[in-house]
Amino acid sequence: MTIEISLQVNGVSHKFAVSPTETLVDLLRRRLGLTGTNKDCGMGICGACTVMLDGLPVSSCILLASQADGAAVTTIEAIERDGRLSPVQEAFLRHGASQCGYCTPGFIITASALLAENPHPSRDEIVEALKGNLCRCTGYKRIVEAVESVARQGGPT
Ligand code: FES
Ligand code: FES
Repeated sequence: MTIEISLQVNGVSHKFAVSPTETLVDLLRRRLGLTGTNKDCGMGICGACTVMLDGLPVSSCILLASQADGAAVTTIEAIERDGRLSPVQEAFLRHGASQCGYCTPGFIITASALLAENPHPSRDEIVEALKGNLCRCTGYKRIVEAVESVARQGGPT
């Protein structure tokens, strides 16, 4: 049994026939080759698979592709603009907020969604927004500082 769905992914419209159990992260990685979205826990705990669904960050490992029917999905591949890193990506580099990098796409998607909704979040608001993203390497301090630096600029995400 398959289900027909329509998805806009990074601005491009697609139609897929998906199985009832196919997750959004698997569709993105296997069918579209968008491997910047990582999959780790597969249980909605770590945030490595975070993408934006209609502008909001979601864990794509616990979202069925069929549940995303009709939505607009943004992955890390669409965060840079015209071949230039976004301000959040630049800030991660500047602050050394990425080490092994496995968690980084998820953090950048979550931070970008936060800053698009609230360009000047407080430190507490940043920490709250990022609480669903786990990092085994950095200790979080540099990640929060990177997002704070963009919040202080209030620039585009
Ligand atoms: S892989 Fe989706 S939350 Fe961990
Ligand atoms: S930089 Fe390695 S898990 Fe976050």
